[in-house]
Amino acid sequence: MKILLLGKNGQVGWELQRSLAPLGELFALDRHNTDFCGDISRLDDLATTVRAIQPDVIVNAAAHTAVDKAEGEPELARTLNAMAPGVLAAEAAKLGAWLVHYSTDYVFDGSGMLPWSEGDATGPLNVYGSSKLEGEALIVGNNPRHLIFRTSWVYAARGGNFAKTMLRLAQERELLTVINDQWGAPTGAELIADITAHAIRQVCRQDASSEALAGIYHLGADGSTTWFDYAKHVIEQAQDILPDVKIKATEVKPVPTSAFPTPAKRPLNSRLDTRKLQTTFGLTLPPWQMGVNRMLAEVLGK
Ligand SMILES: NC(=O)c1ccc[n+]([C@@H]2O[C@H](COP(=O)([O-])OP(=O)(O)OC[C@H]3O[C@@H](n4cnc5c(N)ncnc54)[C@H](OP(=O)(O)O)[C@@H]3O)[C@@H](O)[C@H]2O)c1
Repeated sequence: MKILLLGKNGQVGWELQRSLAPLGELFALDRHNTDFCGDISRLDDLATTVRAIQPDVIVNAAAHTAVDKAEGEPELARTLNAMAPGVLAAEAAKLGAWLVHYSTDYVFDGSGMLPWSEGDATGPLNVYGSSKLEGEALIVGNNPRHLIFRTSWVYAARGGNFAKTMLRLAQERELLTVINDQWGAPTGAELIADITAHAIRQVCRQDASSEALAGIYHLGADGSTTWFDYAKHVIEQAQDILPDVKIKATEVKPVPTSAFPTPAKRPLNSRLDTRKLQTTFGLTLPPWQMGVNRMLAEVLGK
């Protein structure tokens, strides 16, 4: 089996390089690649790459993920998050290949308290969310063989993330103020990459029934929290893992979203109902604390 991976050095892409490697011959590209074009803003060259490699599966982990920046560059966000996935889907369809793609809780408006199901009405609040939603539609319209995983609050040991920022700030400042009215599930890039590999194994079975598995799935760690409780968990856990870690913060103060104005509006309720993914693929999603604790142990060198 040939697999084409785009965005190999992002949080999820990096972990996919590990989880996809045992499945077949892996062509992992980033935007700086020289032998094949991995720049998803160059739509014609991207199509040429797919035609040259002729993969059985394309996994697209590349995206415009700078949510606030996207407000000022909607055309670029649309090219990367909508047009490029559309091209990948159309090229994959010509080959009879599967396209695996990632979308976001930001396709919803964040109202209510209940976890969002796949069939719930969408209503993005910002440019990033709108561009990701358009990408979903172009994929679904262009290739019946698709898996779209909507995920949320992604972190990884590699690169920057909220947990690492909180850990650093807790060592530098006496007071931390953290948003306490946005709800979601911190989800590890490792988990996303592992689930992706399991799902690909199942859809690439050699029988026609595997097409019935195509669709949009919510993929997030189990449970939910706020950024405030997440920050407190990170600090407490870091002290557990490394008792001599020097935490200066004596107070973590909960504040509403309005205390931190940003160019892009964020949804308050990002809870995702993941039952469809778990029952369809026979998988169990672990509690969010499990992956976060593991990442902290790695980051703290324990
Ligand atoms: N991060 C989250 O909290 C979150 C939440 C929900 C859904 N998602 C979705 O999950 C997927 C993976 O996200 P992530 O957290 O792994 O994001 P990430 O770490 O920001 O990685 C995105 C990757 O896309 C690459 N990229 C940007 N422009 C490109 C271009 N023109 N050509 C090729 N590559 C380009 C980036 O490369 P450079 O480093 O060179 O810019 C980066 O490696 C995305 O579809 C995202 O929308 C993420």
